[in-house]
Amino acid sequence: MDIFHIEGPVQLSGSVTINGSKNASLPIMAAAILAPGKSTLRTVPHLSDISVCGKLLSQLGCKLTREPDGDICIDSTVIDNPVGEYEIVRRMRAGICILGPLLARCGRAEVSMPGGCAIGVRPVDLHLRGLQELGAQIHLKNGYIIAEAPNGLKGKNIFMGGPFGSTVLGTANVLMAATLAKGRTVIESAACEPEIANLANCLNKMGAKIKGIGSPRLIIEGVKELQPTEFEVIPDRIEAGTFMVAAAITASELHLQNCRLDEMMAVVDRLRSIGITIERKDNGCIVAKNGQIKPTDITTQPYPGFPTDLQAQFMALLSLAEGNSVIIEKVFPDRFMHVAELNRMAANLRKEGPAVIVAGVKKLIAAPVMASDLRASAALVLAGLAAEGTTIVSRVYHIDRGYEKIEERLNPLGANIIRQSI
Ligand code: EPZ
Repeated sequence: MDIFHIEGPVQLSGSVTINGSKNASLPIMAAAILAPGKSTLRTVPHLSDISVCGKLLSQLGCKLTREPDGDICIDSTVIDNPVGEYEIVRRMRAGICILGPLLARCGRAEVSMPGGCAIGVRPVDLHLRGLQELGAQIHLKNGYIIAEAPNGLKGKNIFMGGPFGSTVLGTANVLMAATLAKGRTVIESAACEPEIANLANCLNKMGAKIKGIGSPRLIIEGVKELQPTEFEVIPDRIEAGTFMVAAAITASELHLQNCRLDEMMAVVDRLRSIGITIERKDNGCIVAKNGQIKPTDITTQPYPGFPTDLQAQFMALLSLAEGNSVIIEKVFPDRFMHVAELNRMAANLRKEGPAVIVAGVKKLIAAPVMASDLRASAALVLAGLAAEGTTIVSRVYHIDRGYEKIEERLNPLGANIIRQSI
């Protein structure tokens, strides 16, 4: 149960290199199930979610090693226990994305239902519907999803859109299953996130036949088998966005290396409307604050819209704007656990249904606050960098799920964060 002591306000300067993407790594690790043999994944970050995913794959029968150079090798020659245990899936919902690959590889899969989540109700009905369309028989038993396709899966046209638009991991599950299905599958309203494009490119490198990558219409010609491969995971655009906000909220200039602005257009657009300059430099960019933080309105949407995984961080930033902003959460309408905690730091936030009215204040004041989920905890750390005094953030394990030793990345830039184990 680590906590952070964060001194503020600070100014940051220097350069930071963005790590590989957590949300691309997780489904790509699951994809190794589809190709019996040894796959090697590069630039996979060192995060607790990645370790949990590793445990999940090992439990199925895979052999995993983390090479000295950081590569992850997954040997999926043997899958002798196609069961995703509750004890592991409850700790990381993304564990659900072994369902499609296991079903396609083994003709049968048992995966625990993922359970509750701090950011809202997160059903998996679209995952199950998509796999049933491919011919799987699915029933629930004792909290487990039992999926069977003894004669294999069969390609079909599938609409994957839901009440909040496309589903990222739902698309990943059905896409992976369709690669080994007989015939052609068309996924309509597929998620277009760069992480899904990265997964599809990895599958094609394994021998899959996927077209329409990056678009809402994916066309998959099923193949008999896939081969293991070597593949590089894309940079983490959510981590990059978090460091951009770190520069903005501390009135600093930072050089971000290894970040792809083309995958962050909605984020860059909002930062520029707030008065932050973003200039391309080498394989990244320079982020600098110019003058006052201007208010702006943000509505989260599936990609290429504004990412819900940066909503909390931008709320912390806009709490210091010269005026009122409105933030509408259209992907996870209840994703506001950070509001009360930021208000404890003298922000002036009022929740109205799926929206929050952010009335800008002159300054934030340090306070003891509690992290509730991964991105909310990032927002509290960012607020702590700008707040007057020492902010104490508890339940830091949330942030370790998605940011690799964040204090060791921020302190060399001028932050003063101490991690304390209690
Ligand atoms: C992925 O979750 C990410 N996780 C989330 O990031 C991210 O917030 C989310 O996509 C949206 O961008 C990973 O990639 C590991 P969804 P996922 O299915 O796939 C509803 C982080 O902070 N829905 O796209 O689980 C759902 O309830 C995490 O790194 C259904 O109704 O999200 C939500 O309202 C948090 N039925 C919306 O769709 C379904 O079967 C989008 O969810 C599936 C989803």
